[in-house]
Amino acid sequence: MTTDNMNTIYMETVSAPTNIACIKYWGKASKEYNTPINDSVSVTLDQADMCAVTTASASRQFKQDRLWLNGVEEVDAHTSKRFRACVDSIKHLASDRIDPATGDILVKKEEWKNMYFHISSYNTFPTAAGLASSAAGYAALVASLARLMCAKETFPGELTTIARQGSGSSCRSLMGGFVAWKMGGEKEDCSDSFAEQIADENHWPEIRALILVVSDQKKDTSSTSGMSNSVATSELLRYRAEVIVPKRMQMIEKAWLEHDFETFGKITMMDSNQFHAICLDTVPPIFYMNDISKSVVQIVHAYNEWAGEIRAAYTFDAGPNAVLYTLQKYAVEVGALMLRFYPGHLSDYISNDIFAKEIKEFQLDERLVQAAMKTGRIAKEGDVKKIYYTKSGPAPQTLSAERSLIDTVTGLNTYNRDY
Ligand code: DP6
Repeated sequence: MTTDNMNTIYMETVSAPTNIACIKYWGKASKEYNTPINDSVSVTLDQADMCAVTTASASRQFKQDRLWLNGVEEVDAHTSKRFRACVDSIKHLASDRIDPATGDILVKKEEWKNMYFHISSYNTFPTAAGLASSAAGYAALVASLARLMCAKETFPGELTTIARQGSGSSCRSLMGGFVAWKMGGEKEDCSDSFAEQIADENHWPEIRALILVVSDQKKDTSSTSGMSNSVATSELLRYRAEVIVPKRMQMIEKAWLEHDFETFGKITMMDSNQFHAICLDTVPPIFYMNDISKSVVQIVHAYNEWAGEIRAAYTFDAGPNAVLYTLQKYAVEVGALMLRFYPGHLSDYISNDIFAKEIKEFQLDERLVQAAMKTGRIAKEGDVKKIYYTKSGPAPQTLSAERSLIDTVTGLNTYNRDY
């Protein structure tokens, strides 16, 4: 081994998307393998608007695994069960890393298991505020390590079975478009609990999502502990998993394939409400939605009623932030309605400048405004911190070497959060 080989730092940088579930995962069948008690589906969102960026690097000179999140080193993170499950499982799938220019083997397949990793990751949106940041984060971790170690799946979707051990919902972020996570349950090693693409991001390009950030603070009850309490105490949860979700899965997948927004929207809203009903049925009850979230629900219903059809559908994860799915042809109207009732003055209040201009100029029908006012909502600045406008998007992407977050000489983090 030459000194050069000893000091070389190999690295890969990727971005990975968030996903927002339309049929929620809530409850674990196996805590060890992190498998769910029900199937779930989600739409993968566009990385141009929100994503996690992660560099995974390895070198023979590294002495231990190290992890930086948003520029800050997480000293114990590399010993956490979730992190170890991802890193160690990908080592099992590793193969030779080859120099594309010369064809030389840079790292032999069997060398990976003795190497350490320096990993740096950041999110382009609030962490842990119910915006699926762990989904994007673990998907980026798995995708970057898999690329670095040239991992080869032994069956399709194997990487998603690794990502789910990091965070369940992250398995759906390894695929673009419209994605299902099948609960599995037949195989002892849980290898049948993986994500599967129902349709890619080009299948229904008119789908849009508006995310109303009601809180960018860390949530009070983490999904993990919340769902554990729900499994232990909620009788409704079992009925949902056994009877309701299987029916809804079939209906929503069909709706996606047929571009049927009415059905997609209806199931999405009903499933969000049922998930929060289960939170309420948990002992002690969990309240993720707040009064602002509830006012969004009422305004969306008033809007759909005024329109005589479902044009917008809300869904809420383990936090108060609202995600509204709609179609391109209604997105400006939905945005204008939200801006009317949840105003904000900051220049970056709306993530997309063109969309911001369009919704500010849009003339809402006066009858719609009256109908929405009947919900009792009084427009107030500050209730919503930011509105993201996005659409469905692709699977994780490999980024160029210039986007790396690890120094090529020192092997240390180079990312500094500047806000
Ligand atoms: C409400 O995937 O964060 O967003 O597996 O314990 O990490 P862990 O849970 P996590 O739970 C997500 C819950 C949800 C619904 C969903 O995304 O399906």
